[in-house]
Formats: sequence, structure tokens, C-alpha cells
Amino acid sequence: MYDFAPDPSLAKPERYRQLVAAADALTAGEPDSVANMANVAALLWEFLPDLNWAGFYRMVEGELVLGPFVGRPACIRIPLGKGVCGTAASQGETQLVKDVHAFPGHIACDAASQSELVVPVLRAGTVTAVIDLDSPLTARFDHDDAAGIEALARLLADRI
Ligand code: SME
Repeated sequence: MYDFAPDPSLAKPERYRQLVAAADALTAGEPDSVANMANVAALLWEFLPDLNWAGFYRMVEGELVLGPFVGRPACIRIPLGKGVCGTAASQGETQLVKDVHAFPGHIACDAASQSELVVPVLRAGTVTAVIDLDSPLTARFDHDDAAGIEALARLLADRI
């Protein structure tokens, strides 16, 4: 049994350090990227409050394709440059969106989503996937969240 229950009293940076350590323990030595993404999606869901979607889109033949996630069923394919995920993938940069309704081209997979954080996973400078977090709260994500998920993306670069 894996028991990685987070301590709710921890400040965000420490909570993310524990999340990354748990992801490291779960994925170390496991070459199957689907298994690793599935376990990390479950960890994101357990560690981070106020989410309605947490998971991965993978870069497949020049577009993003849905990967393992927790949440409601989502759009399957996202062209580069479209929506928050496609923007993160095409620019290779984190997108921290406090109000998705103010983001031109935002793709609404779940009408409950109000804010979103998307972090690209880069391997040797190339985007291979994005990590996508959605929240039903406006302005749920800040720079501590972005830094924490970017650390997770660096860990996963050659594991997914
Ligand atoms: N909202 C995203 C689409 C993916 S879902 O949130 C799961 C976007 O605009 O790219």
C-alpha cells in the first residue's frame, strides 16, 4: 500500500517538496510512462485542495492528446496554440490563468473550471507533455503552485 497523505498544515513550498518526493518514490525505476502519469495524477489529486481536474496531455505527432488524469472526461485532442494547454505547449512556458473566462480561446472541458495552471514537461528542450490543473475557484493558483509543478515537471522529464 502506498500512503502519501499530505499534512494540511504545511506551507505550499513544503507541500510541493513532499509531492515531488512522493512522485520520485513512485516513478523511480519504472519505465512505463502511462503508469507513471497515472500515479502522479492521483498524487496531484491527493496533495492539492480545490481541484476539479488534474492530469496530463501528451505531445503526439504535433498535437496534444489526453493522458492519464483525475476529473471529468475531457477533450481528447488540443492543437498547438489552442486553449491554455496548447499555448503552454507551443510556447514551452507555464500558463498561470487566474480567470479562465478572461483567457482568449480557453477550452471549457468542465464548466466548473474557473482558474487553471498548465506547465510544460520538457525533455532536452522539447515539449513532450503538459501537466494541467483546473480549479472551481477563481485565482486558485499562484507562483508557489507554478514553482512546485515546474519542479514536478523537471522530475518527470525522462519518466513519462
Ligand atoms: N482548459 C484546457 C483544456 C483542457 S481541460 O481543462 C482538462 C485548455 O484551455 O487548454
